[in-house]
Amino acid sequence: MSSPNDPRLADNGAPKATSKPEGGSEQSMLSLWPPRRRVPRILVVDDQPSIAGLMSQLLTMRGYEVVTASDAEQAQAEVRRQAPDLILSDVRMPGKSGYDFCRELKSDPATRLIPFVLITGLTDSSDKVRGIEAGADDFLNKPVLAEELTARVKSLLRVKEFTDELETADSVLCTLGLSVESRDPYTEGHCERLAVRAADLGRHLRLDEDSIVALRRGGYLHDLGKIAVPDAILKKGSDLTLQEWEIMKQHPATGENICKPLKSLRLVLPIIRHHHEHADGSGYPDGMRAGEIPLLPRVLQVVDVYDALRTARPYKPALAHDQAAQTMREEARQGLWDAELVNEFFSMLVEQRSVA
Ligand SMILES: [Fe+2]
Ligand SMILES: [Fe+2]
Repeated sequence: MSSPNDPRLADNGAPKATSKPEGGSEQSMLSLWPPRRRVPRILVVDDQPSIAGLMSQLLTMRGYEVVTASDAEQAQAEVRRQAPDLILSDVRMPGKSGYDFCRELKSDPATRLIPFVLITGLTDSSDKVRGIEAGADDFLNKPVLAEELTARVKSLLRVKEFTDELETADSVLCTLGLSVESRDPYTEGHCERLAVRAADLGRHLRLDEDSIVALRRGGYLHDLGKIAVPDAILKKGSDLTLQEWEIMKQHPATGENICKPLKSLRLVLPIIRHHHEHADGSGYPDGMRAGEIPLLPRVLQVVDVYDALRTARPYKPALAHDQAAQTMREEARQGLWDAELVNEFFSMLVEQRSVA
């Protein structure tokens, strides 16, 4: 099943590929490293110019870059223009309230990691309950005391810095995944398609949000371990020797090792390690059987196999959708793939088509 001559597996790479010039890829790697620390940017939202002005003055004196907005609409425009590192917002303002502004930012994946501090009246404890429900990270009481303000700002910015660093590490790895893909021009766009489709299938199966994010990242990262597979093997095509095949088969474990230190990739690790296991135990690296293979790698695998079948390689033509579906159903019957997931995948594609 997972023989070196199996022409369908994307792993067998493609021969006669012209790799991108060494210098070019080195250049793009360098630009991936986190930028040097910059001055944190704080957005202060208050309809009273005197309060906004005072906070702005105080924070500017402490070395922060401050922008102010007099209502939520203006603040939202500012966030869209350039995302701040921290938001300090009044609760009661003309137009949209601070709660609604906070809730909207926290429900958008692009802005939910920006720390949000609500400035509430000292006496009103129900304000805090509403603030917590809206997703606020912290509270300040009015009148705002200078020491308290700077202490909160400092600690929340530290948290933001950590999350930024984690995000940067994530995206560095995902970009590395894409650079591995770029060594093989025949698989162009494969990771991107996988990321989108695997997340779609996760949603179709009603998996939780964390699993969907893991599937998306898995699309980019599943073959990261091929970074350690020499070009001569990666681009050879379908006729690998047994020895070359042994090297190729190490890529799931290598990829897992690279990503292991990142806690944020915890759910992605099984996807990387097990995306070549087969239900009948003939896959690698652990020869797991149907019931042992975790769900997320099985989900990604279905999407991966479909994409490989639908893509032309120098040694095989691209299959039409119907042929690919038939092949996958047949192979699921033979004990390679999860038959139920294969069915779910195709019913999702049918649904997507009827929606499109
Ligand atoms: Fe792979
Ligand atoms: Fe793949």
